[in-house]
Amino acid sequence: MTIPTDTLQKNRLPQHIAIIMDGNGRWAKSKGKPRVFGHKKGVSAVREIVEACSEIGISYLTLYAFSTENWNRPQFEVNTLMTLLSTSLRKELKTFQENHVRLNTIGRLESLPEKAQKELREVTQKTKNNTGLTLTLALSYGGREEIVKVIQNISEKVVNNHLRTEEIDEKIINNHLYTFSLPDVDLMIRTSGEKRISNFLLWQLAYAELYFTDTLWPDFGKTDLLGAIINYQQRERRFGKISEQIEENND
Ligand code: IPE
Ligand code: IPE
Ligand code: MG
Repeated sequence: MTIPTDTLQKNRLPQHIAIIMDGNGRWAKSKGKPRVFGHKKGVSAVREIVEACSEIGISYLTLYAFSTENWNRPQFEVNTLMTLLSTSLRKELKTFQENHVRLNTIGRLESLPEKAQKELREVTQKTKNNTGLTLTLALSYGGREEIVKVIQNISEKVVNNHLRTEEIDEKIINNHLYTFSLPDVDLMIRTSGEKRISNFLLWQLAYAELYFTDTLWPDFGKTDLLGAIINYQQRERRFGKISEQIEENND
């Protein structure tokens, strides 16, 4: 399906969209299938959304694929997710190249199985000169853990006299986050009806517009994405100011 992208205001596109892809298990259950069936279908939804973002002209898409807390799931499910990650990366390289997608990752990658780490390194390397969408996969990612790491790294610099305490500001913190090369999130979408952040991008979501939909991730497609962006474009982002100031700026 081609997207009727003319329904979008091209000058007001979110630069960075982040998605909590939730509901794979419930989707499978509703079909009387095992949970991992939902994860497999979830990969197709990822492909559709990556292609749609490229087509619309979104610059950054960040997908929450596996949280630090997800390690606590049954071993079989964790293993299947890790295998699915490796096989999908290899299969999707073609989609990335065709759409000029550059792959990026955030999270405690060293916790992933060696095979998945290797695939990630390879696809990242092969797509590094692509100039289209930057697709960031959050893998073994936790927002609190990210902040702990930032504090550890900054403290070390202070202890070693590479940085003075008074120099620590928001910019320095930003530069130490996994997401140092990404702009702030403009639009955060969560599927499956849950209305929580679940330890995703705690710092980076500070002023994001939040969009929650009951649609389960495997059913989330181009039309749903378009709906979320249209909804985003109808909102007024005030960043603490008042409406009149925003209108003045738009004139
Ligand atoms: C999201 O779907 C995928 C991952 C967290 C890996 P879930 O597996 O959480 O699906 P539900 O929430 O149980 O339906
Ligand atoms: C959040 O989904 C993590 C990912 C989508 C990768 P969960 O399904 O793990 O979140 P909770 O546990 O319901 O909050
Ligand atoms: Mg879930």
